Amino acid sequence: MKILSIETSCDETAVSIVEAHGDFPNATYTILGDALFSQIDIHKEYGGVFPALAKREHIKTLIPMAKKALSSASLYKEVCSELPQRKNEQLYELLNREEGFADALLNFFESTEKPDIDLIAVTAGPGLEPTLWVGINFAKALSIAWDISVVGVNHMEGHMLASVFDGTRIKEVHFPSLSLLISGGHTELIVGEKWGSYARVGETRDDAIGEAFDKVARMLGLPYPGGPEISKLAYEARSQGLLYTDHFKSTLTRPMLSTDNLDFSFSGIKTAVRYSIENKKLTDEVKMVVAMEFEDAVTDVLIHKVKKALNETSAQSFILGGGVSANSNIREHLEKELYKEFPETKLFFPEKKLSTDNSIMIALAGHANRTKAMISEIALTEINADGNLSITD
Ligand code: KG4
Ligand code: ZN
Repeated sequence: MKILSIETSCDETAVSIVEAHGDFPNATYTILGDALFSQIDIHKEYGGVFPALAKREHIKTLIPMAKKALSSASLYKEVCSELPQRKNEQLYELLNREEGFADALLNFFESTEKPDIDLIAVTAGPGLEPTLWVGINFAKALSIAWDISVVGVNHMEGHMLASVFDGTRIKEVHFPSLSLLISGGHTELIVGEKWGSYARVGETRDDAIGEAFDKVARMLGLPYPGGPEISKLAYEARSQGLLYTDHFKSTLTRPMLSTDNLDFSFSGIKTAVRYSIENKKLTDEVKMVVAMEFEDAVTDVLIHKVKKALNETSAQSFILGGGVSANSNIREHLEKELYKEFPETKLFFPEKKLSTDNSIMIALAGHANRTKAMISEIALTEINADGNLSITD
């Protein structure tokens, strides 16, 4: 089955065409087309993602990304056709508040031959609702125009699947599994009984870890997104053998280490950074040691809670997922520590390029949930954006 997948939950506009041979989770997958546009350069100057701006960019970029993905899959063919009047009306009704988008879409449908696609998968949440709606409305429009079923999927389940994907297959995961999902909006520990059946055993009580990376980066005058910037400086500090304590009296706090639960808190570390650099000259060396110490502090907290969760659950596999899992320090230390203490537990880390937001993971989640797919008329009312969509729903 050929899946067209769409991701617009934050600041990446992504469309993929993935062919699945066989049933989930034993299928083999071929990536036929993959197009991703990152809005980072647009949001950089504002130091974060503005939903209204992000939405406008998604509207502008989705059709070009779809054309690009379809073209690489050799599924894009230009024609000159007309949509039946009924579909035309449905499309305008669907997009009545987005005049420009509706016109662009009509133009796209009238100039594009219906491709050989069996399923459309789209992120329904969690994420920014205005941007999620762009992807969802686009998916619904494709479904109306081409009579293809749509399935709305959970972005975090996508991250989880990306972490166990080897480029062709879903690796064999023994359940129960424990997943640590760390991104710009989430920090959660999820126990999986099987694919599709999840319970949350821990989460952040305040900031998501990615958000903390981004905010600390901003305090240090580094551009958005802060995670990779902090990571680079921290790496530099370590390779130069710099010490945090050469510049600061005490190390940063590691919150929640002694609490008897699996929750996290990152706003304390962030505030501690703010106080520590107050009235301090931010030299390159100071920035480097702060980045290193912040990275070490959050890594310590993550490792501690994952170990606790592995001890408390009988998880046989550990999966790390979400944008922050691109962080080498977190990956290396988790791997080393867990291998030492839980040698029986199979560890899964995403390939770097699938760590951050992408639409391949949405195709995988779509395939996993393909039995929930709906035809256009039902999809129109049943699939909605949910900024707080939970993986346990
Ligand atoms: O999963 P993702 O791409 O988008 C969301 O679903 O939120 O995650 C984005 C987050 C951002 O906060 C970004 O700073 C962080 O992931 N990130 C990193 C690294 N690469 C991306 N954080 C730490 N180290 C990295 N190398
Ligand atoms: Zn994400």
